[in-house]
This record gives sequence, C-alpha cells and structure tokens, in this order.
Amino acid sequence: MSLFITFEGVEGSGKTTQIQHLKRYLARKGISCKVTREPGGPPISEKIRKILLDPNHRKLTPFSELLLYEAARAQHINEVIKPLLKKGTTVLCDRFNDATLAYQGYGRKIDLTLIEKLNHLASQGVKPDLTFLLDCPSDLGLKRAVQRNRISKNEKEGRFEREKIQFHHRVRKGYLAIAKKEPQRVRVIDTRAGVEKVFEKIRAIVDELIVRSSPARRKKSLAGGELGVRS
Ligand code: TMP
Repeated sequence: MSLFITFEGVEGSGKTTQIQHLKRYLARKGISCKVTREPGGPPISEKIRKILLDPNHRKLTPFSELLLYEAARAQHINEVIKPLLKKGTTVLCDRFNDATLAYQGYGRKIDLTLIEKLNHLASQGVKPDLTFLLDCPSDLGLKRAVQRNRISKNEKEGRFEREKIQFHHRVRKGYLAIAKKEPQRVRVIDTRAGVEKVFEKIRAIVDELIVRSSPARRKKSLAGGELGVRS
C-alpha cells in the first residue's frame, strides 16, 4: 500500500512541523515513507526552487513563474513521486498542485482552467489520496513565517512574504474554495488549536485512510464504488 499525502496552507501555517510528526508516527506503525516538497525534490527542481524564491528576481513575470512551478513539478513527479509510489512507499509532500491554483490562480489571478490543465500535465494525472489544508488567518501565518525566518537566521524575506496582505488573503480564500470543491480529499484543519491538537486531528484522519486502504477493505470498496486508494 502506498499513500500520497500532501500538505498545503498559507505562509507560516506549520506544515513542516506536522509533516515531521506524521513521518515519525507512520514509521512507528511500520509504514515506510519519504518526505519531499514543492517546489523542489530532485536536484533539478531544487535549482528551479532557488530561481523561484530568490527575492532579487523582481522581473519574473507571473506566467514565467507559473511555468517554472510546473517544470519543477514535472521533474519531481517523474524522478521522485511516481517511482516511490510504484515501489509502495508512502509520500508526504509539502505543497503540490493545489498550491499553484491557490498562489498563481487565486493569488496572481491567472486563469484557473489553464492552471488545472498544466497541473494535470505536469503531475501526469497523479492525484493525492489526501490533502491537509492547514488553515489560519493570513496575517497570523505571515507573522509566524517572518519570526521563523529570523529564528533560523534567514533574515531574507522570500518573494511571497513580500507580497501585500491582499495577495495572501486571496491565496487563503483560494485554498478554502479548493477544499469546498473536494471535501473528501482536502481536509481543513484550523492551526490556531496548537501543534499537538492539530496533529491529533491529522493522525485520526490518516488512521481512517489507512483502514480504508487496507487490501481487504479496498477490494470491497472497489466493488461498491467507494473512493479507491492506490495499492
Ligand atoms: P514553502 O515556503 O512552503 O516551501 O513554499 C515555497 C513558496 O512557493 C510558498 O510561498 C508558496 C509558493 N508556491 C507557489 O506559489 N506555487 C506553487 O505551485 C508551489 C508549489 C509553491
């Protein structure tokens, strides 16, 4: 059994911490999993990440930005995500297709249908089994992200942390709209509850998914037309 689980959210929503908690939890259960991220993953995509997040790249146009995110994804899917899933390894990915819809679509106002098509091409139709949308008000998330950068001595703000607050409001609204459209896959978790409570919720949802995707249940659910999970 391999699961593909993605984490999404505005800046400073606490994805990285929750991914590490989940990785340890799955390891204790004997489920082998790998953590990866977007933009990034394989070396080529990590290089593209550097281009995308460099605050000096003020001239990067929204369309070039979109294509670079998709290029990084195409490489990531091919080199990392698909081979891992094929091997039966569970993949925990920090951001994926939904981030492009939220940031480039709702945030930058690029046509959503175009982004959906590019997402589909770049990801070769691979869809997450489950997505956690770690939600918090954009201003709170931004404050946390700026603090985090100071603590890690990474004083430089990223290109996105520099965006006006209205941009971040649109991104959050976009994420919530995606969740409303696909409530089965995208589970919204309010991160204001605190790290421990948030992880309790994540763990319960993942446990449910694991039961649902066990081989015996899967056979039954496929016969009954229930949402299938990769085996
Ligand atoms: P991170 O800080 O969560 O690693 O994400 C890097 C930044 O890239 C973050 O500001 C969100 C942004 N992003 C997009 O704008 N579009 C995308 O498709 C992805 C994957 C990330």
